[in-house]
Order: sequence, then C-alpha cells, then structure tokens
Amino acid sequence: MGADAVALFLGAGMMTRSADTEYRFRQNSDFWYLTGFDHPNAVAVLRTDGGPEYTLYVEPRDRAMEIWTGYRPGVEGAKEHYDADEAHSSAGFHEHLPDLVRAAKRLFHVLGRDPQADSLISKTLEELRLRSRLGIEPASAIIDPRSIVHPMRLFKEPAELDIMRRAAAITHEAHSAGAKFAQPGMNEFEMEAAIEYTFRRRGATGAAYTTIVGGGSNATVLHYITNSDKLRENEMVLVDAGCELEGYASDVTRTYPIGGRFAGPGRAIYEIVLAAQRAGLDQCQPGKTLSDIHDASVRAIVEGLVDLKLLSGSVSGLIESEAYKRMYMHNTSHWLGLDVHDVGSYRIDGEHRPLEAGMVFTVEPGVYIAADDEESNLEFRGIGVRIEDDIAVTSSGCENLTSAIPTEPDEIEAFVAQQ
Ligand code: GLY
Ligand code: MN
Ligand code: MN
Repeated sequence: MGADAVALFLGAGMMTRSADTEYRFRQNSDFWYLTGFDHPNAVAVLRTDGGPEYTLYVEPRDRAMEIWTGYRPGVEGAKEHYDADEAHSSAGFHEHLPDLVRAAKRLFHVLGRDPQADSLISKTLEELRLRSRLGIEPASAIIDPRSIVHPMRLFKEPAELDIMRRAAAITHEAHSAGAKFAQPGMNEFEMEAAIEYTFRRRGATGAAYTTIVGGGSNATVLHYITNSDKLRENEMVLVDAGCELEGYASDVTRTYPIGGRFAGPGRAIYEIVLAAQRAGLDQCQPGKTLSDIHDASVRAIVEGLVDLKLLSGSVSGLIESEAYKRMYMHNTSHWLGLDVHDVGSYRIDGEHRPLEAGMVFTVEPGVYIAADDEESNLEFRGIGVRIEDDIAVTSSGCENLTSAIPTEPDEIEAFVAQQ
C-alpha cells in the first residue's frame, strides 16, 4: 500500500431470498482472505499512516439478536480472536469514515458497494480540497485495493492448497455417491441430492456453485441447473459439481453413461473430449499459458470432430474459422480459488500470462451438439460431454488435484457400477 495509506474493506451483508427469508451468509471473498471473519456487516480498516494497523468494525454482542441469529464475536471477540488492534461497532464506521479519509494520502476503497460510504468519502475529500490553502492535502488517489489483493489471491500458499486438496477429496467422494444414481428411471435431482448430501456430510459448506446434473440433451445447456428430468437409457448425464470448503471451491465435471456402459455416438464424443482434456493437461506447466492449454484442447476436438464427419475441411482451416464453436463454445480454463471463477488477470500487457507455481485453474473441454443442430448427423444430436479437473501449478510441472476421480471410460463404468 505504501506509506500514509488507509484501506477500507467492506464485508458482505445478508441477502434477501424472498420476502423475509435470507440466503445463508457468505462472506465477501477478499474480506475472508484478509480477515477470516465470517459474520455479516463488518468492515476492516488497514492503515500505514501511524494509526492502528488493523481495525475491525463488527456487529456488537446483543443478547436479544443472538437468540435469533446466533453467536456474534462482538467488539471484544474481534480483538481477542481475530487479532484486530482496535475494534468498534459497525454502526460507528460511517461516523469514523471522514477522519479516516482525512488521514489518508492514498485511500484504498472499492467504489460502488456502499453508496453512503462513497458519498461520505467524496464529501470529505471535497472539504479538504477547499481547505488546501491551509496546507491540508486530500488523498491524491482513491485506489482499488483489488489491484493488490487479487494478485495475492491468484497465488495459493501451501495452507490454501491443503484446503483445496481436501475440497477435491470431498468432491471425489460426492461424485462417487452421485455416479451410482446414473441409472435409467432415476431423476437428475437424486444425483444432485446424493452429491450435496456428501458435501455437507463431509463438512463442506455446500456446493461452491449451483450443481449441474444434465441428462440427455440437457447436457448441451451449459448452465443447466433445473435438474428435474428423468434419466433415460442409452443417454449420458453430465455432472458439474464441486464443494466449497473453508471458502475454497473445487470445480469438477464428469459425464457418466446412464446404466453404466458407454456406447455408440456417446462413446465417440466422450473419447474426443477425453483426448482434448489430456492434450490440455499435457500443457500444464510453468511458462505455458491458459491459451496454450485451450489451443491444444481445441485442436484435439477439431481433429476428432473431423474424424466423425461432424466438421469437414482442414483442421487448421476449421480452427482459423472457429467453425468448431458450434460445438465447443467456451474457454478451456479459468482460475479457481475462493471463487469458482477466481480473481487474477489473464493477461499481462495484452499477452497471455505465463503459468507460475501456486496458480490453480481448471481444464474443462467439452463438446455440445444441440438437439436441434441440423448441421450435425441425427445420431449425434442432443449429446453433451465435458470433463473438468482442477490443476495446481508446481515449480516443475503441475498437480492434478482431482485426478483420483476417474475419466477413463472403463474406470467410469466401474465407478457407476460400484455398490
Ligand atoms: N462450474 C462452473 C464452471 O465449470 O466454470
Ligand atoms: Mn464446472
Ligand atoms: Mn469450471
């Protein structure tokens, strides 16, 4: 932050689901990363101007409120258990804000999240400007603190990787519990329930994103979350499910044959996606880029689709014209961490960013042939396959955090057949 800086971090509040019901609390990821404080309506202030280095504003202890919504650490707990140098009631934050703004030569604050704070900040800065004749200088800049925190979050420390490994192990067990339900006559929501039961049973907060269970042509809808159809014989089911553990996400997709045997056009598409995923995984090492991974996966997909006559022309021409986007329309990778689509820049000075140890991302190629895609041979219509793993870059290569969850057709068949 440099000297004479004051940084404000606003925690998350409660979100209304409908009328007077609320979603379960989820802390803002940056706030969680910096403080480990998991209660609503808190503010953290970090200072390098000689004032207290770390102040927390928190909801105070309140016997009547705690009967309804549970324990609050309160002002005393903020100091004792969260290492704050100072703590105050959240209600005092707006009152203290002008003084904090006056103290800062550089103010770190995310504009647009709290209109009252934004307006107090601009009013205070304007007042100081009017008094500049008296030698009082307002902060020369309001800087977005995410410019510092997000590069930190992009590189996972060993303790973070340990949590992500544990999230991967729970996700393995959950996919295993779900795969058993890949049987004709079962419902998509039964797979979802088995998976999410396992997440909770093993101590994860729940799903890191809304679980996707798409049987048959539902697998071609990229964010299908209705999960309400029956599973049918001779089709496949795409399951994209990962848990959130201590704030960290896992993000895993497997595609299972309903009834437990890959066959026909479904198997052919599955094998293409598996080859594309392996081609992507082969690129995972320091110095390579997510774009190298994507290019390798795209090439394997185009080669496979040409072999199956789902595309015609030269492989390089089809890559150039992006004709494959009819069947593979998303990117192969995204950063993974406290958010499923995690923070961190993808380019540096316009160039794809080289991978470095500590970065974690997904490799998730897919092929999706819409049920009404008249350009594709009838037997392939309504087939969707994605295979997704979570990869951590190491100093010499990479670690596939989710490699224990099978992808090989024989192993997938055994995974579905297990009792
Ligand atoms: N589950 C969201 C994604 O794969 O990006
Ligand atoms: Mn996913
Ligand atoms: Mn993903």
